[in-house]
Amino acid sequence: MRIQRGRFELRPAGNTHPPAGGGKLMASPRAWVEVDLPALVRNANRAGPGPSLLPMIKADAYGLGAARVAGALTPLQPYAFGVATMEEGTALREAGVVGRIIVFFPSPNTESEALVSHRLDAAVLSVDALAALLPRSIRYGRRDGSWLHLEVDTGMGRGGLTLPQLEAVAPHLVDLPGRTGGDHGHIASMFTHLHSADSNRDAAKRQLDQFLRAAEIVTGAGLAKPLLHIGASHALKLGAHYHLDLVRPGICLYGGGPALESVVSVRARVLEVRELPPGSTVGYGASYTTTGRERIATLGMGYADGVPLEISNKGTFLLHGTRVPVRGRVCMDVTTVDVSRVPGVKPGDVATLLGRGSPDTAARAVGAEVRPARCGNDAAGGNAPGDATDEITLAELAGAAGTLEHKILTSLGLRLPRIYGGGPADG
Ligand SMILES: Cc1ncc(COP(=O)(O)O)c(C=O)c1O
Repeated sequence: MRIQRGRFELRPAGNTHPPAGGGKLMASPRAWVEVDLPALVRNANRAGPGPSLLPMIKADAYGLGAARVAGALTPLQPYAFGVATMEEGTALREAGVVGRIIVFFPSPNTESEALVSHRLDAAVLSVDALAALLPRSIRYGRRDGSWLHLEVDTGMGRGGLTLPQLEAVAPHLVDLPGRTGGDHGHIASMFTHLHSADSNRDAAKRQLDQFLRAAEIVTGAGLAKPLLHIGASHALKLGAHYHLDLVRPGICLYGGGPALESVVSVRARVLEVRELPPGSTVGYGASYTTTGRERIATLGMGYADGVPLEISNKGTFLLHGTRVPVRGRVCMDVTTVDVSRVPGVKPGDVATLLGRGSPDTAARAVGAEVRPARCGNDAAGGNAPGDATDEITLAELAGAAGTLEHKILTSLGLRLPRIYGGGPADG
């Protein structure tokens, strides 16, 4: 099925993570994730001009499907795509991505050969890693450092060379073969990562200053100036001097942090509605007891699909334009909500965990007619148009769960099909 303007296309996630069940897509899935690729592209455009972009599409593009996200962003001609592991890099190569891919957390002792043979760039996290990777440059025909990206540790404490270590290795880097005959040795880029870009400007400034000193150390030793990068999503708000040569946005592409547009919606169908008398218990541990007659709807999505367990008895879903509270503990496969205030809820209706309430886009995607709503819902399974007015944002859901926006997206279950679509990219 092809993408149509303003509509969604039902497809399995990227090659790496097809939905469980052999990647088969049901005409009427019980739950799904919608990814608005044109909104994602607009968020990327706002992060910076294409050649200065290093979109982070690790962890399967934060769970949204790395191959599809890379495909959507490729026309921007980004400098490179960032992944975490060698396997993520090779999966992208197999999916047809030909541009530069940087593996940010490689294991140089065991993976150097594979990195080279798949033409994957590597982040260099330590002096030992440099010692393991450099000989491969020579042995496997990548004769210079143009595939190496040197991390500087300015306070993350999880990887990167310290300034004294840089002083010690810089003279050896200068001996690398140059880009062209007479050049000084060079590496592709140098980067560091901010630990508190969203919460502590002073700390960010100290890290920036330290990083710029590190860059002076390597160029002072005679290395050609590498591209410099420090900024992930939250750094984009700190000012243009954090943009340097490249930016590495992740969550803001996907609708979190300082993103301007939401990208992801997560929806589940109502499986069951039951009227419970006062004093009835709901869910494991009987953590909720009805106080009056209550109508409880069972939604086809649980913590195995990414509903945070932490929203048990406190989160909300959107249903027919109304916020319905979670009652009882979130189960592995289903979540129970109180729909007493929403007339006419029935099995097949669509509830929204994340995103704007919307008519039944999955039904649209497989060509089913979605008729205008009557009395809040309709026979085709579409919800009331009023649903589209309210939104549960990524920030709100993460806040309710006491977790990170990144964690909400990367926890979305493998058995939820991803549906790609949205409006026109240039709208
Ligand atoms: C090295 C590096 N750069 C950039 C990012 C993207 O961060 P964010 O998703 O907050 O933009 C990450 C994510 O963890 C990262 O590890």
